Amino acid sequence: MHMATVLTINGETKSFDAPPEMPLLWVLRDILGMTGTKFGCGIAQCGACTVHVDGKAVRSCVLPVSAVENRAITTIEHVGSTPAGAKVQKAWLDLEVIQCGYCQSGQIMSAAALLAATPNPDDSDIDAAMAGNICRCGTYVRIREAVKQAANGRQS
Ligand code: FES
Ligand code: FES
Repeated sequence: MHMATVLTINGETKSFDAPPEMPLLWVLRDILGMTGTKFGCGIAQCGACTVHVDGKAVRSCVLPVSAVENRAITTIEHVGSTPAGAKVQKAWLDLEVIQCGYCQSGQIMSAAALLAATPNPDDSDIDAAMAGNICRCGTYVRIREAVKQAANGRQS
């Protein structure tokens, strides 16, 4: 007897058929059509696929869907509805962080998880939280500034 997989994503219950070992990223993009979360490396090395599970930034490309049942999953489509995510997105726009954009969903998810846990991060907190998010366009300086602006709540 086959049981559907049930996940809670962005506060909504989603029910679908998927093998238990399928990575969450594939479920999001290919089954649920939520394409804001990006595929980069597929081996937990780039951060493009970052989502939140119970508020923590995780790499959805290596996370079996069976491991996240009964957990609260948040994606880039919804993170702007969280207090930290809203501040991060505003700072990203104010400072025009984005270049090609491909890595930026993951960058924003990592930054939002950082600020939710550590509202006033120092440089080493920022380095530790953002180290796993690679940007081929080299937007790192603006990312760091935007994290600080989001933390300070400065208005532009
Ligand atoms: S696609 Fe998941 S870390 Fe690169
Ligand atoms: S903005 Fe292009 S990879 Fe980061």
